[in-house]
Amino acid sequence: MVGLGDDAKITRHQEQSDKMPTAKPPDPISVRRRLLRWYDACGRDLPWRVGKGEKADPYRVWLSEIMLQQTTVATVSTYYDKFVARFPTVQALARADLDKVLHTWQGLGYYARARNLHKCAGLVVDDLGGNFPETEEALKKLPGIGDYTAAAIAAIAFQRKATPVDGNIERVTARLHAVSDSLAQTKTKKRLYNLAAKLTPTSRPNGRPGDFAQALMDLGATVCTPKKPDCGVCPLKSACRAGTKGDPERYPVKAPKKPRPLRHGIVFWAVRGDGGVLLRRRPEKGLLGGMMEIPSTDWREKRWGLSEATVAAPVAAKWRPLDGVVRHTFTHFQLELTVMAAEINHRGPKGSLWCPPSKFSDHALPTVMKKVARLVRDYSS
Ligand code: ADE
Repeated sequence: MVGLGDDAKITRHQEQSDKMPTAKPPDPISVRRRLLRWYDACGRDLPWRVGKGEKADPYRVWLSEIMLQQTTVATVSTYYDKFVARFPTVQALARADLDKVLHTWQGLGYYARARNLHKCAGLVVDDLGGNFPETEEALKKLPGIGDYTAAAIAAIAFQRKATPVDGNIERVTARLHAVSDSLAQTKTKKRLYNLAAKLTPTSRPNGRPGDFAQALMDLGATVCTPKKPDCGVCPLKSACRAGTKGDPERYPVKAPKKPRPLRHGIVFWAVRGDGGVLLRRRPEKGLLGGMMEIPSTDWREKRWGLSEATVAAPVAAKWRPLDGVVRHTFTHFQLELTVMAAEINHRGPKGSLWCPPSKFSDHALPTVMKKVARLVRDYSS
C-alpha cells in the first residue's frame, strides 16, 4: 500500500470533517501499470527520447536534463537537435571552446548551465573515461547536477530506481493523495517526494523507472495541469483522491509568491563612425557570468541619476538618454534599463570589442542585451 500511515490519517480526518467520498489508497502496482500503458500510447514524442525498449544514450539524457532545468520543454525542443548536431558526443563537447558552447546555448538562457555543462563534459572525459556515473550519489558530485537532475539521469539513462520530483510530479502526487499541506513547508515537499518514491518501480527488466518518471512528467504537463485538469482522460482517475473529492485544482497548496524587487541600470550604447558598437565581457562570476554585454552600470534598487550614470560610463563622451526603457524579468528581480547613446571617435578602452549590430549574433549576447539593441534600432528608424 502506498503511504498507508499518511493516507489512513487523511482519510479519517476527511471523513470526519467534510464527509467527502474518498478514493481507495493508490495501489502502486496498478498505478505503475496504468501509467506506463498510458505513456506508451500518449507520451510526448520529444527529440531526446528513445523508443520503447531502445537504449538511451547517457550523454543525450544528461544534456536534455540540464537544458530542461530552467527552460520549457517547448523551447528545449527547438534547440536540442542543433546542439547535438554541433556536439554529438561528450568528447566533442569537452574538446570544444567554451565560447562556441556558450554561443550554441543562445536562446536557452541561464548561461551558468552552459559553463557547468562544459566543465562537466571535461571531467567525464578526463577523469571517468568518457562514461557518466550511474548512481544518483556519483552524479551529484558533477558540476550542474543536483538532486532532481541526478535522479532523472539515473532513472532515464540507467534504469535505476530513482525519483525525480519536479513541479509536475509534485502536482500529480499531491492530487493523487489529496495532500493539503502547503508547499511553503519543506516537510510537505519531503512528504510528496516520499509518496512519489513509493510509487517508483524498481530497476528490474520491466520496471521501467525512467519511463515511469517521464510518464508522470507528461501526465502533469498534458492532463493533470495546474488549471482545468482533464480528469476524464486520466489513467489514474480511479485512484486519485483529489479527483474523487471533486476539486483537484485545490492541490497542491502553493507557497505564496514572493514579489520580485525592481532594479535599475543604465546601459551605454557607444557607436563608432563605422557602425561598430562597444561590447565587453561580463565578469566570470555572477549573473550572466562571462557573457558579452553592452556596457552598463550596476543593477541596483535605487534609480540612477543621469549625471551620476555618466561618471560610470565606459568612455567619456556626450551621452544622451534615449526615450523608453528596456524591461527584463530575471528569476529574482525585475530590471529596468535606461539606454544612453553617444558617438565615439576613438578606439575606446584597451581590449575593447567593437561589433556592428548585424554581427551581434556571432557573440553570446543575453536576451536583455538583445532587447537593448532592439530599442536602439526602433529609436533610430
Ligand atoms: N522535464 C525535465 N525532464 C524532462 C523529461 N525528460 N521529459 C519531459 N519533461 C522534462
